[in-house]
This record gives sequence, C-alpha cells and structure tokens, in this order.
Amino acid sequence: MRVLIVKDSITDIQRARAVQAVDDVLRKYAETKIVSVEKLTDSLMNDDVIFNLSIGKRNDFLQGNVAAVAQLTGHEHIGSSPYTHYVCLDKFTTKNILKAYGIKTPNGVLFDGKKFTGKLPVPAIIKPVAEGSGIGIDEKSLCYDIEEIKKRSIDKFEKLGEPILVEEFLDGPEVTVGVVGFGSDLIVLPELEIDFSNLPEGIERYYSQRVKEKFAEQTIYKCPSTFTEKVRERIRKTAIKSFEIVKARDYLRMDMRIVDGIPYVIEINSMPGLDPLTSDLPKMVKPLNEDYEWLIRTIVKRAFHEKRG
Ligand SMILES: Nc1ncnc2c1ncn2[C@@H]1O[C@H](COP(=O)(O)OP(=O)(O)O)[C@@H](O)[C@H]1O
Ligand SMILES: [Mg+2]
Repeated sequence: MRVLIVKDSITDIQRARAVQAVDDVLRKYAETKIVSVEKLTDSLMNDDVIFNLSIGKRNDFLQGNVAAVAQLTGHEHIGSSPYTHYVCLDKFTTKNILKAYGIKTPNGVLFDGKKFTGKLPVPAIIKPVAEGSGIGIDEKSLCYDIEEIKKRSIDKFEKLGEPILVEEFLDGPEVTVGVVGFGSDLIVLPELEIDFSNLPEGIERYYSQRVKEKFAEQTIYKCPSTFTEKVRERIRKTAIKSFEIVKARDYLRMDMRIVDGIPYVIEINSMPGLDPLTSDLPKMVKPLNEDYEWLIRTIVKRAFHEKRG
C-alpha cells in the first residue's frame, strides 16, 4: 500500500512539522510519498491512499477540492468527504446546519459587502466567514455598539475581500473538542479548555490571531477541562452529534463556548492541525496515556482497513 501525503507548496513550520511527523508514523505501516498539492493529479497512482495535509488558504476551499479529486478518481482518502469540508469551511453554513439539527450555536448574521442577513447581535464578534488560525480576528473584533459593528464589518470586508460573520459574543469559558474514528466507532478525546485569564491586561479574552501566535505561553491549557462531569457529558454529546450532522469521518475538532453549563458550537475544523508540538489534537491524547503515533493510527484505521479489505 502506498500513502500519498499531500502538502502545501508554501508552508509554515507547523504544517511542515505535521507532514514530517505523519510521514514518520505511516512509514512504519506503508510506503509513503510526500507531494505538493499542485502535483497531486500527476503523482497519483492507481491504488494510492491519499492523506491530505494541504490546508490551502482555507477560503479557497482547497481541502474540499482535494477530497473531491480523491473521490472522483476512486481513491481511498483519509479524513472527511468533500461535503464535510465545504460545510465546515463556511462558518455561516455550519452554524445554520447545526442549528437546524438542534445544536446550540451563537446567533450569527452574514455581511456580503452590501447588506446584513438579519438583525445584528450585540455584543458581537466580527470575523471572516471562511478563515482559520485567528486570521481576521483582532483586538477590535469584539464590539458593543451597533454603528461600530456596521463600520467594522465594512472595514473588514474591504480588507479581506470575503463575507463577514457578525456573531453574538458568548462570554463564557472556551473548550476545543476532538473526535476521532468513524461510523459508530467514535472517540471523543478529552476536551481542551483554553483559559485566557492569565493574559496581560488589555489583551482580548478570546483567540485572536495575536493571542494564538504571540501569547501561547500565557494562555493556560487544561486537558481535560475543569467542568463538572455533567457539563463534560454535554460537551461529549454535542461533539458526537455535531460530528454526525456534518457527516465527518476519521478526525475533526470543534470549538465551543460554555454558557450556564450549556455548550455552544462556534466552529468546526474538518482538517485540524496535526503538528505534534503545537496542535490541539495531539495535546488531547496525553490524558489517555496515548501518544502521537496512536492518534495517527486511529485516524488512518478506517482507510487502511478499507484498503486491505
Ligand atoms: N461567538 C463567539 N463568542 C465568543 N468568542 C468567539 C465567538 N466566535 C469566535 N470567538 C473567539 O474567537 C476565536 C476564533 O474564532 P473561530 O471562529 O474559532 O476562528 P478560527 O477559525 O480562526 O479559529 C475563538 O476561539 C473564540 O475565542
Ligand atoms: Mg477556531
């Protein structure tokens, strides 16, 4: 069996490390080849298994496209279907689908550059609809005034050139939750609580780009979280339900904020980072006394099994 690991052509240190680390694990079980995403169709051989680690720009929806190429050419691939990627890359779509299935998520309104789709929530967080890594989320993203919300949405739209999501700001503790597996064989990893209380004064208490990039040391990570068992059970149930609603497969991570003990899903990452040093998913296996290799083996289990028949 050959696994084709697909990477971005231009990549940062975390993504490069993830590609290397996944390759290090898989080489023990299969032949592997690493290829840049633009070379994918040229390099693909008949019975390859595709492991996409190419994130693209996110708003180019590349993750979905790679999964679609795999599907169209009849190749087994690791991770979710194109449908899941397309749904999860657009935070407004994700929200509306989850809501329709009864999952709690903050109220949100979309700004397409001309008009807002509904009544503006206050206070609101203003963020691009299809980004990740805190891109477009800064110290001015939280806003308490309607006129200010409108103005900042226009500014953000002009700056980023993509629709802007104006979302009710939930002032509660934050967790991120990983789910691995497939079908009815799903494992919710111990949830990771992200505590911003130790950040220097004046720094926003949410995961803006600068908090993610520059304040990791002062951010407190707790895994598992400090919630009561009752709340933790609600978190796990919400995670499983959400995973199923977006028809995910193999691995997924979602951000939640907890208000009065009730989990609200903020966004779903259909291709969460796999950098062994900095990504959240690898942090979540430690309380299980498992390691990075276990995580990757769990993620590829379904595809390898299908392949071997
Ligand atoms: N509705 C919200 N209420 C409270 N905080 C939010 C809300 N939406 C986003 N945030 C904060 O902003 C962070 C980044 O938002 P998110 O949508 O997860 O973007 P990214 O894809 O960049 O991670 C979240 O981790 C959270 O701290
Ligand atoms: Mg997030």
